[in-house]
Amino acid sequence: MVALARTNPSTANDETEVSAFERDVLKGLGARRKQLAPKYFYDGAGSQLFERITEQPEYYPTRCEMHILQDNAADIARLIPAGAALVEFGSGSNKKARILLAVAPVLAAYVPVDISPEMLEQEADALQLDFPRLNIRPVAADFTQIFELPEEAKAAAVRVGFFPGSTIGNFEPHEAASFLRNAAKILGPNSILIVGADLIKPVDILNAAYNDAAGVTARFNLNLLVRINRELNGSFKLDTFEHHAFYNRERHRIEMHLASLKRQKVKVAGECFDFRAGETIHTENSYKYSVESLGALARGVGWLPAGVWMDSKKYFSIQAFTLAP
Ligand code: AVJ
Repeated sequence: MVALARTNPSTANDETEVSAFERDVLKGLGARRKQLAPKYFYDGAGSQLFERITEQPEYYPTRCEMHILQDNAADIARLIPAGAALVEFGSGSNKKARILLAVAPVLAAYVPVDISPEMLEQEADALQLDFPRLNIRPVAADFTQIFELPEEAKAAAVRVGFFPGSTIGNFEPHEAASFLRNAAKILGPNSILIVGADLIKPVDILNAAYNDAAGVTARFNLNLLVRINRELNGSFKLDTFEHHAFYNRERHRIEMHLASLKRQKVKVAGECFDFRAGETIHTENSYKYSVESLGALARGVGWLPAGVWMDSKKYFSIQAFTLAP
């Protein structure tokens, strides 16, 4: 078994997480514009639904990113010198890191960082079977906060951060800047950062990707209410809420909402919330970048562009940066 380190207090135990969920949901539903954070989509059922989204014909991001990685693995891995530590932010299933690990030189360590200790442990053990000589040092941490790297990673000459999946798109632009600033602090001098970001593209393609014909994205969105009903004793009636997803051109983002089909009251954890007919809960933003706009954001916090890879349709990008000395 690969040993697990936990290095920031917010992931110290499951109890803290459950009450954080309750606190955030009550605050989000009590706000004038109701909202819930997209990180809460990913309970067991939500993670499975997300996997199914990535298999829908309209949902291009995951397929595009996998293709870019497969087609350019050796080129991208040239940024990773022998003896480097590879640190993956939000590693999840680590299937993208595997593509780089397969062609990377001998590493000091691979450090998958994820909020879910169960997922980390399971995936690290599976990875170890396929890469028996790889030094895997998983860290259970909330990577939006500063956390401590394992000693081997700190001692390595170079640390390479890897943040695939366009997860950066879930952050508000100022939060994305703060993530990039934290990553610089965590990785330290001589570091490199490789980021997967979804690109701005024609609206019909964006809208279709978040409104798949099979309705999997709708189920993924509505599963948040299922989770609230189960974990926080909620009374949401699923057939009275509808999935809405659309591209907001001014802000370069897909917005996902759950719209109440009628005027109603809903109870959660003993508190009562009123919905007007048509009122929505804003559940996710998925920001789209250009190579220039992400570059500008990164440059603003000290990262210099070091490489860009895209698919032939320019739907998705993998962008590399180095830390300015
Ligand atoms: C996992 C944040 C990259 O924004 O496309 C997919 C999540 N939401 N369909 C995205 C998501 C609806 C996804 N990210």
